[in-house]
Amino acid sequence: MILVGVAGGIAAYKAPALIRLLTEAGHTVRVVPTPAALEFVGAATFEALSGAPVATDVFGGAAGVDHIALAGAARAVVVAPATADLLARYAAGMANDLLTAVLLASRAPVVVAPAMHTAMLEHPATQANLATLRARGVIVLDSPAGRLTGPDTGPGRMAEPAAIAAAVSAALRPQDLVGVRLLISAGGTREPLDPVRFLGNTSSGKQGVALAAGAAARGADVTLVAANLAVPAPDGVRVVPVGTAQELADAMERLAPDADLVVMAAAVADFRPASAALSKIKRSGLDGFSLELVANPDILARLVERRAPGQVIVGFAAETGDGERSALAHAQDKARRKGADLTVANAVAGGAVFGDDVNDAVLLDRSGGIIGRVAGTKTEVAEAVLDAALGI
Ligand code: CTP
Repeated sequence: MILVGVAGGIAAYKAPALIRLLTEAGHTVRVVPTPAALEFVGAATFEALSGAPVATDVFGGAAGVDHIALAGAARAVVVAPATADLLARYAAGMANDLLTAVLLASRAPVVVAPAMHTAMLEHPATQANLATLRARGVIVLDSPAGRLTGPDTGPGRMAEPAAIAAAVSAALRPQDLVGVRLLISAGGTREPLDPVRFLGNTSSGKQGVALAAGAAARGADVTLVAANLAVPAPDGVRVVPVGTAQELADAMERLAPDADLVVMAAAVADFRPASAALSKIKRSGLDGFSLELVANPDILARLVERRAPGQVIVGFAAETGDGERSALAHAQDKARRKGADLTVANAVAGGAVFGDDVNDAVLLDRSGGIIGRVAGTKTEVAEAVLDAALGI
């Protein structure tokens, strides 16, 4: 059962949409509004959507509501909206209504979606309460900027119901990567030719970002070295932006000694222009020109060479087959050559995989042996890669 707490703010009108999303995802939902929340949305609405009775205080009803049983039955608690007052009472450990009593008694993961006027959100008291709750492991969602109740705009809107529902599903995930420090590269490097041009590749960074997000949701401490991502970096990970292969190499080599798991998901340019022009290369007077390229370091091979004791290293192999050998045979060679503990091999003929939301990969061990095949969304492939890396 997911327990949805609703505090008394105008954003309470969006709580029914969240309850809908959770029940549609197959969860049983119990709603615990504060008395103030019922000033905004009636109990009948919550009861109809959740199919369960609604109570607001510990002494309500003939037999009262057992807040301990309710807390014990909840696999996750989500408070949306969480007002300044609710956050203050929760942070102080008060239990003066059913919702705060349940929050105090529950040991389940808790997600809060603060919603209030900007001035109240930015007040040091609210900020201190949020910091206290975060330090206790409560998942505090951002309150995006936008139109508030009145004509004014600013931070303090409640996160969208879909984002809250996604945070609840993430909170339900097994925390089997707590204590694992993951260093992961994603995206594609850009090697400058001049101030406005570069040699690049079509990697979107989606698979690496899915890995970073999946690992963070399972409790890992994630550092994402991000090379020109076409998608936003996930919440809850440390981001180190880089542009070129050399910058990527420097960042990975600096950070790798502190990582338990290193994943090289970035598409790295193997060559860069021998020198980048300081001003824009002009067309006039040139019939054509040739570019001198020099090799970039093989970052993965270097990381393997300097691996910290016990560290697990995962590489990718983007391959196309040719007349003689299949993409898989090339990937098996690469797995053996580079020495990563796990290689995620993709056939990329015809531009497949790069930029797509789905992936189809073969997982190879250090000697090129096939561990398994995974096909699905990049999120599903990320889970399988993390499981395989954990099993090493
Ligand atoms: N890689 C790397 N440094 C490079 C090139 C690639 O660390 N200079 C990493 C990639 O992040 C990936 C793996 O090596 O994890 C394989 O990348 P891929 O592009 O498939 O292979 P290459 O090493 O570039 O080999 P080739 O171009 O011969 O296929």
